[in-house]
Amino acid sequence: ATVNFTDFEGNARSVEANTGDSVMETAVRNGVEGIVGECGGSLSCATCHVFVADSDLESLEPMSEMEDEMLYGTAVDREENSRLSCQIKLCEGQSINVTTPETQV
Ligand code: FES
Repeated sequence: ATVNFTDFEGNARSVEANTGDSVMETAVRNGVEGIVGECGGSLSCATCHVFVADSDLESLEPMSEMEDEMLYGTAVDREENSRLSCQIKLCEGQSINVTTPETQV
């Protein structure tokens, strides 16, 4: 899978990801700035907030109630296309475009 990260200033970086990993894990493993992932993916920190490209939103599993609630606690306000990247697990061959917020804390 491939994750294309764009930061809030428009700098883009493309990273190869392992199937089954989350977008957050992929970011942390590759030192992508803009995603913290403090809780390690257990839906309790909201420091893995990303904005998903509209064209990719539909292909994702719908968010859980817990994720929806946690998204109200992000450092940068949520938008229609906000997700917590620890909850986005990558499928084989998947390619996804996300933008990271200016800050996670
Ligand atoms: Fe903590 Fe996603 S890593 S909620």
